[in-house]
Amino acid sequence: MRFIFVLLQMLSVYNLAAQQPGFPVHTGDILNDTDGKPVNAHGAGILKYNGTYYLFGEIKKGTTWLVPGQAWEDYRVPAGGVSCYSSKDLINWKNEGVALASLTGDASNDLDTSKIIERPKVVYNKQTNKFVMWMHVDANDYSYSQAGVAVSDQPEGPYKYLGSVKPNGQMARDMTVYKDEDDKAYLVYASEFNKTMHVCLLSDDYTSPTATYSCITSAINREAPAVFKFQNKYYLITSDCTGWSPNPATYAVADSLLGQWKQMGNPCKGAGAESTFLSQSTFVLPTANKAVFIFMADRWNKTDLPNSRYVWLPLEMVNGQPEIRMPQTKKDQSSNARQSKIYFTSKEKNRVAAGSNYRYHFTAADSAGKNFSYAVKNLPSWLQYDSVKHLLTGKTVKAGQYPVHLVAFNAGIYIVKVYSTDFKMTYTFKIVKL
Ligand code: GAL
Repeated sequence: MRFIFVLLQMLSVYNLAAQQPGFPVHTGDILNDTDGKPVNAHGAGILKYNGTYYLFGEIKKGTTWLVPGQAWEDYRVPAGGVSCYSSKDLINWKNEGVALASLTGDASNDLDTSKIIERPKVVYNKQTNKFVMWMHVDANDYSYSQAGVAVSDQPEGPYKYLGSVKPNGQMARDMTVYKDEDDKAYLVYASEFNKTMHVCLLSDDYTSPTATYSCITSAINREAPAVFKFQNKYYLITSDCTGWSPNPATYAVADSLLGQWKQMGNPCKGAGAESTFLSQSTFVLPTANKAVFIFMADRWNKTDLPNSRYVWLPLEMVNGQPEIRMPQTKKDQSSNARQSKIYFTSKEKNRVAAGSNYRYHFTAADSAGKNFSYAVKNLPSWLQYDSVKHLLTGKTVKAGQYPVHLVAFNAGIYIVKVYSTDFKMTYTFKIVKL
């Protein structure tokens, strides 16, 4: 009997771990897949289906070259098609192979390596039971400006390419797809030579644009759209148009996807905000904590595009406004970094992983055996404490909020990095379930 009870307890912790993934943070690093190879998925988006996350992105490989005769820095690699990776926890990504392959030797084909295949996004259609991928297809000088569409019976593909369109005769470049709670899906794309952003309702099977569309900005040159919803409002993060070079992001807010949209300020805060932390938006993924999202962006390496990196950061809604901050990664490399264990003393310790607004008390000891005492809420994206007493120095740190990097998540053992500006050092804690 006791054995069964313990077993049930273990299983419930395990289920919890499966349902409540850790918070992935990337600060321009190489993201390795489960084979130890760098993830190749740029301009990416994530589909959650049946408890699994599917990451789709541009495959960038080969030598980067500069398209001659362009008025701007048109660096390119051959169109490599679309990759797919799957994950249960947003941390460990398994390579599912090529979801949509490019081909060689047919310059008239949208998927030819001489073309451009960018910003693929996949949504699932309940009615047809198909996975629908939209992407930007273009010529090397971006004169083609079309939205391509492909379908598959499985999330990971292979996807069958159906063709490309100019929705309602309008140019379509940088784009995303947003599927709303009522199962209507929308294509959001830079149009009119990137001067405006358009939103177009897709057909019920999501494979073609409908005549319902609107131009949601005046001529303000925005691209790299990423849409999310919070408390019945829609948010749209975009970048300026400076090619592969970073620029400040802005966000807009609306009561309806088709508008009216109100342009707001820069959602990025703190050092690096003016360059979107040297990156460009691509997607915003909701998490279990309704007020926290994962902001996904690309740190492009324009002269060596396959060596572009990923920036994934917590986006936190504060008084209805998105705030994106970069953890203080410099301190992460500090020689002062220490490995510690944190023992939860709260009964509700497992809820920490859900990022819910409960308060947790725990004590921690660093590798030198020195004890700290914390009150925590809002894990996993932030560590917040009322006051921290450093028992070694006797120093008390005022209440504050610190980014937490949950780097691993496994059945009650949570590894987090705590960036403490007050101590001018980083502590790496291992949180162990009591
Ligand atoms: C960016 C755009 C990328 C890519 C690049 C080419 O502004 O967001 O997806 O098209 O320009 O320079």
